[in-house]
Amino acid sequence: CGIVGYVGNGTACGKPLEVCMEGLKRLEYRGYDSAGVAVVAPGLGSALVRKKSGRLANLSAELERDPLPEATAAIGHTRWATNGEPSDVNAHPHTSADGHIAIIHNGIIENAGVLREQLKEEGYSFDSATDTEVAAKLLGRNADEIIAENGETDLFEALRRTARMLTGAFTILAVDCRQPDIVVGVRHDSPLVVGLGVEENFLGSDVAAFVAYTKEAMELGQDEAVCISSHEVIVTDFDGTPITDSRRFSVDWDAGAAEKGGWDSFMDKEIHEDPAAVRNTLLGRFSAQGDIVLDEVRIEPEVFRAVDKIIVVACGTASYAGMVAKYAIEHWVRIPVEVELAHEFRYRDPILTPRTLVVAISQSGETMDTLMALRHAREQGSHVLAICNTQGSSIPRESDAVLYTHAGPEVAVASTKAFVSQIVAAYLLGLYLAQVKSTLYADEIHEVVEQLKAMPDKIQWVLDNVSSTVEAAAKRLVNSRSFLFLGRHVGYPVAMEGALKLKEVAYTFTEGFAAGELKHGPIALVEEGEPVVVIVPSARGRDVLHNKVVSGIEEVKARGAFTVAVAEEGDPDAERYADVVFWRPQCPTLLSPLVDVVSLQLLALDMARLKGYDVDKPRNLAKSVTVE
Ligand code: G6P
Repeated sequence: CGIVGYVGNGTACGKPLEVCMEGLKRLEYRGYDSAGVAVVAPGLGSALVRKKSGRLANLSAELERDPLPEATAAIGHTRWATNGEPSDVNAHPHTSADGHIAIIHNGIIENAGVLREQLKEEGYSFDSATDTEVAAKLLGRNADEIIAENGETDLFEALRRTARMLTGAFTILAVDCRQPDIVVGVRHDSPLVVGLGVEENFLGSDVAAFVAYTKEAMELGQDEAVCISSHEVIVTDFDGTPITDSRRFSVDWDAGAAEKGGWDSFMDKEIHEDPAAVRNTLLGRFSAQGDIVLDEVRIEPEVFRAVDKIIVVACGTASYAGMVAKYAIEHWVRIPVEVELAHEFRYRDPILTPRTLVVAISQSGETMDTLMALRHAREQGSHVLAICNTQGSSIPRESDAVLYTHAGPEVAVASTKAFVSQIVAAYLLGLYLAQVKSTLYADEIHEVVEQLKAMPDKIQWVLDNVSSTVEAAAKRLVNSRSFLFLGRHVGYPVAMEGALKLKEVAYTFTEGFAAGELKHGPIALVEEGEPVVVIVPSARGRDVLHNKVVSGIEEVKARGAFTVAVAEEGDPDAERYADVVFWRPQCPTLLSPLVDVVSLQLLALDMARLKGYDVDKPRNLAKSVTVE
């Protein structure tokens, strides 16, 4: 879910609602099955709420139909339903029984059932099926309790008291019409950052919520509570003890970077940003002495020198970036690299020692499965390095070292430019380890670095020269009910990623397989006209692999498949056996995923567009899954 809060007298003075709506627009990728806002102002007898199921546009229409008065503070929420179906009544904000307080929530409150029963016994009733309404009623009750104790309203303390009673994952923001000059929040296992303005302050699930107004931000830690007013930000723990060492940072991209800027869709724009994502991730990585530089290191260099195993934990696209990196890192560093889906990792008692480096890859830095895997690894004494695209997010914050992918904000739900930048970052990590462990000579490292630096132009070549072939293929194949993707070596994870993209945005049934596995099962699926996309390795220097993959194409073609090859420019076998070829410019095998995936990203985009789907917001998906 996406969360935003605003209070102040600064540039956005008098427009808290506009700030929230603007923030929600930018956060809509976090969930888009319902949206809502609440405002408070001096003299209002209750917190005023408007909420609607469906896209943000429905809420805007509702606000036009039934406008809210001018306010001093506001909160807004865009929902990805986990608890209770998407509907007007289940949408956030939810209010206290007396209507004074409104709250929004991201996460799942695990003891909501028990609390609901307790509150019912105390006479409370509920309108919705959500855990959030339970938290709202509980907060109202605690606020009343504090008034009874102290004689005055204290929303901040009431929210902390509520947080202490909740289990599960939650970020909660609250406003109270009796204290219309503050917005309060708590976070436990769910994201929240503070935006620092002049005479105004913001809260958001991530910096996109407020980057149009300020680039100065502050991280909040686990189990911290925050109270913002126009002139102050107070951070405490859940018991009220002040926290004074919160880390500040400046957002390194402009609000414009998170706008479509003339493109039809964010996905289209972001695919065309693949070259820049690679280029920017490589920037500033090399010291004057030629050493590779990580972004944040909170452990001694000896820890890296001692690493004897790497486990990559990630989900979705990020896990395929990890699979690609395995080939390179094992080759360069000569230590085993395992890649595991984060949600599987934690529950299978993995073998972790202080010499194991766990690499958590995540675009958002908030994927709960990955965050939990990271925590498990650290509890077991291993060190964690994060590869992440989002400053101020939980995963880098809780890691021992960080390599940021400087891909810029990724808004489309299906990940594209983040994938190529994650591969580059993981390769940089591989080279860094090769450097500290002396498994490669300096000139070998230099050579790879130079090859990496050449990749943005090669990706651009694909965008310039292959797009029209991809579009024609998409038109030809748009009605196909299923697709197979095959690859070998680094082409295998690329095949999986190509299949995932098509699944996510074009809702086509797809599977990615290791090409060698074809004869062990998948070939049974091939029938007349079945599209099979094959990533063909270069024939230069790796004839064996190339020839084996080409014979795979022959086999499926003999059974009637419509074959699409992703192959090196001029490969005569690809031309001979494939119905369509997406060419790749010559590049070293280990770097070929960076170009090959681009054609497959375009294929998914074109297929979805032809089917008339919203490519940026595919059904049922959210960009950042902050629940387990
Ligand atoms: C969700 C998104 C995927 C993404 C995955 C991991 O499932 O829909 O596109 O690959 O999360 O996200 P992360 O932010 O951790 O990279």
